[in-house]
Amino acid sequence: MVNETELSRIGISLPQLLLEKFDEIITIRGYSSRSEGIRDAIRAYITHYQWMSDVKGERQGVITMVYDHTQRGLMQTLLDIQHDYGYVIQASLHSHVTHDRCLEVILLRGEGTELKHVAERLMSQKGVESVKLTTIPVQG
Ligand code: NI
Repeated sequence: MVNETELSRIGISLPQLLLEKFDEIITIRGYSSRSEGIRDAIRAYITHYQWMSDVKGERQGVITMVYDHTQRGLMQTLLDIQHDYGYVIQASLHSHVTHDRCLEVILLRGEGTELKHVAERLMSQKGVESVKLTTIPVQG
């Protein structure tokens, strides 16, 4: 069994702007090193994944998504995904944040695992900055 104290060294490539933003945050938060910040970010990613895995049963939910509409083909892909899941998507609202960035709010209702699939399909597209899924059980 591999434990948390055994360290593996990895090399990753990141867009410069992403790294600059990350460094800014870990400086503000007072991390001793970039590695510690990255370890925490990965733990948060895993926790978020596990939390999303718990989304089950009949749910009402909202997806908040920010994306770059100048990314080639992205708007069509996002629209196709939403049509694929038309049976759980009730409505969507689009707001043009800046010339390039868009904010979209999608209202959903259906099986939690399906709602999660919609969020995962959307967040894996290049040019999508963030996707957040919030749900509540229909039976309180
Ligand atoms: Ni827009």
